[in-house]
Amino acid sequence: MNLQQNVSLKPYNTFGIDVIAEYFTELNDINALQEITDLPHQKYILGGGSNILLTEPVSGLVVHNTLKGITIEKEDANNIWLNVQAGEVWHDVVLYAINRGLGGIENLALIPGTVGATPMQNIGAYGVEVKETIESVTFWYWKEKTFLTYSNRECAFGYRDSIFKRQLKDKAFITSVVYKLSKKPTYNTSYGAVAQELESMGVHAPSVKAIAYAVMNIRTSKLPDPKMIGNAGSFFKNPTITKKQFEKLRTQYDSIPSYPVNEELIKIPAAWLIERCGWKGYKTGDIGVHAKQALVLVNYGNGKGKEIWKLSGDILKSVKEKFDIELEREVQVW
Ligand code: EPU
Repeated sequence: MNLQQNVSLKPYNTFGIDVIAEYFTELNDINALQEITDLPHQKYILGGGSNILLTEPVSGLVVHNTLKGITIEKEDANNIWLNVQAGEVWHDVVLYAINRGLGGIENLALIPGTVGATPMQNIGAYGVEVKETIESVTFWYWKEKTFLTYSNRECAFGYRDSIFKRQLKDKAFITSVVYKLSKKPTYNTSYGAVAQELESMGVHAPSVKAIAYAVMNIRTSKLPDPKMIGNAGSFFKNPTITKKQFEKLRTQYDSIPSYPVNEELIKIPAAWLIERCGWKGYKTGDIGVHAKQALVLVNYGNGKGKEIWKLSGDILKSVKEKFDIELEREVQVW
C-alpha cells in the first residue's frame, strides 16, 4: 500500500474542487483492504468523484477505488451476468455491453463515475434505473473485516437511493457488482427526448447501440462535460409531492410538468422549479447554475465547495418560499 500525505483531491472530483486530503491511497488490490482497515484514520471512499461536493480539507484517509476487471460470471440462452470491479469507469461498462449487443444499461450511457457508485445511488436516466439490472453487490464490511454479498432485494433500492446511503453509510466499501444483461433486449424508448432523438437520427428499428448513441447525443447537448466545466450532474433530487399539493400548484402554474409516481404522489422536475425561481444561468464569481439545465450546479474554475454549498442552500430556500416544496440534495457532501 502506498500511503501518501497532503494530496490535493482536485483531479479526483468532477466538480474540480481543490481541497487537501490528510492521507490518500489507491486501492487496486482487494487484499490491501485488511491492512487499510487496521490503519487508525477515519476512512473516506472515493470512486469517480462524480457525485460529491468537497467543502473542507479531509482529515483522515481517502481511499481511491481503482479496482479493475470485467468478467463473465455465467450465461444462459437469454442472459449474461457480468461481474465488474467497482473501480471500472461506468461508461466503459456501457460500451462493453453495447458493443456485444447486450441490453439493459444502454439508456445509462455517459453517466459519469465508476461502477461502485451505481448501486450506491441507483443511477438512473431516460426511463431506466440501474437496479433493474443489478443481480448482486459485493462489499467489504469494515466493522467485521469481511466481504459480504447482497442480493438486489437486500440493497433496498429506491429513487437515487439504496441501503449503502442509509444503514450501510460509511460502513461498506463496494468492491464489485454483478449486472444481469439481456441477449434478447427489450428497448425502453419511453422517454420523449430519446424517441425524438432516434427519429432525428433516422433510426426506425432501435438497437442497444442506437439507443446509447441517442442518449449520448442528448446528454452532450444538455449537460456540461465535467472535463470542461466542473459539475456533479443533478445536484438535487426531483421532489415528490401529493396530488392535492400538485392540483393547488397547477391552479397557479398551468404548465408545471409532472410524472405520476402512484395514485397519491407526483414527481416534479426540480429543474423546472429552480428555473422558475430565476436561477438558470446564474453566475457569481466562479460558480453558478448551468445555463442549459437548472438542476446542475457548476464550477467554472476556482470555485470553492463552501460557495457551492451556500448557493445550493439559497436555491433550496427560494424553491421553498415560492412553491412550498423542499428540495433534497442528491450529491454527497464531505
Ligand atoms: N426542465 C426545466 N428547466 C431545465 C431543465 C429541465 O424546466 O433547465 C424541465 C423540463 O420540463 C423537462 C423536465 O424538466 O422536460 C425534465 O428534464 P430532464 O429530462 O433534463 O430531466 P431531469 O428531471 O432534470 C433527471 C435526472 C437526470 C437524468 C435525466 C434524464 C434526477 C435528479 N435527475 O433529470 O440524472 O439524466 O432525468 O432521465 O432524477 C443525475 O442524476 O445526475 C442526472 C443527470
